[in-house]
Amino acid sequence: MSLLELAPDELEQLAADVRARYDALKAKNLNLDLTRGKPSSEQLDFSNDLLELPGKDAYKDKTGADVRNYGNLQGIADIRELWAEVLGVDAANVIAGDASSLNIMFDLISWSFIFGNNDSERPWREEDVVKWICPVPGYDRHFGITEKFGFEMVSVPMLENGPDIDAIEKLAQDPQVKGMWAVPIFGNPTGINYSREVTERLAAMDTAAPDFRIVWDNAYAVHSLTDEFPDNPDVIALSAEKGHPNRFWYMSSTSKITHAGSGVSFFASSKENLDWYASVAGIRGIGPNKVNQLAHAKYFHDAEGVRAVMRKHAGSLAPKFRSVIEILQNRLGEYNVASWTEPEGGYFISLDVIDGTATRVWELAKEAGITLTKAGAAFPYGHDPRDRHIRLAPSLPPLDEVTEAMDGVATCVLLAAVEKLGA
Ligand SMILES: Cc1ncc(COP(=O)(O)O)c(C=O)c1O
Repeated sequence: MSLLELAPDELEQLAADVRARYDALKAKNLNLDLTRGKPSSEQLDFSNDLLELPGKDAYKDKTGADVRNYGNLQGIADIRELWAEVLGVDAANVIAGDASSLNIMFDLISWSFIFGNNDSERPWREEDVVKWICPVPGYDRHFGITEKFGFEMVSVPMLENGPDIDAIEKLAQDPQVKGMWAVPIFGNPTGINYSREVTERLAAMDTAAPDFRIVWDNAYAVHSLTDEFPDNPDVIALSAEKGHPNRFWYMSSTSKITHAGSGVSFFASSKENLDWYASVAGIRGIGPNKVNQLAHAKYFHDAEGVRAVMRKHAGSLAPKFRSVIEILQNRLGEYNVASWTEPEGGYFISLDVIDGTATRVWELAKEAGITLTKAGAAFPYGHDPRDRHIRLAPSLPPLDEVTEAMDGVATCVLLAAVEKLGA
């Protein structure tokens, strides 16, 4: 029975029930938080062996180089080769950095802005306008970077198989459009995977700007909640095949595999792109933290070692995701007031409520002691034009808190909906 189909007296009755339930929720004085897409302590504990690695006498990489010293800007072969296997790309196209892939993304945009990249006619700061394609809903920190540099962010909707590729192909005909954000596997926050067709069209499309780049942020490459790992297409080989070898800046990291604040980041790309990156990175610094890279190589051993850790994460995360979906289904399913994604991996669930009520749901939850990510956070400039999207992040709190918080969120969604209908 849809809420919209209820007779006036039925709607009044439901509104009274929901208000009573909301008052009871407030009386609990909860203090719960569903905002943080961070691993829980239980998950961090899985990799505590890392804290003892690489070991007192282990400071040589596989080439015999001493990892304690300066140098080796591209990172040690041990971890580059291992990660190339995880991603299914050629190790010659992979460099390993410090803890954060987001730092590298910031550098890539920043250096394109200041100096221009290897295909630029001039630095991006000299362009009248730089436009950037932003699939929505998307990752707030991506949008934060392009906002910082004053780019005009152009939203395109995420569809079932990835972003609206027809719209992207058209936008790319504008020479002011210099690039695009992409989270291709288990997207943040939708959990959607880009299909093979969308990926191929991104690799093959013509762009008016010669220095157009896709930030292929594969942050959730192996972050499955099931027994199956996703296919990670080798976009570096694919784009070379399609005649656009420099198209992708491919990012990855161990942040949500080992320890989020002290992992290893990876940047994979064409040789030309990597040479350009190194031409600036080599001035910015002398080399990455290779001791930590060696520790990670010893901890994982090989790509199967990475998958073994990810299975442990799935064991911790999957029940939390299941609980969120069950509560949404049980509490909201019959009323037709919301829709949500049911991801098979990643860190988030996207909840769409009735248009114009997401901010109200956020306020109601806040008043009841449940902190949700701000409505609109997953859109450029923090503005969701339909005010309907809420990003749910179930990883950090323990399962019982996730369950309690989500039951409260369902009450808030219903209350906002009946308010909207004037009841
Ligand atoms: C899509 C996406 N990219 C990047 C990051 C951060 O990556 P890193 O820790 O490697 O900087 C996150 C973290 O939430 C993310 O969701």
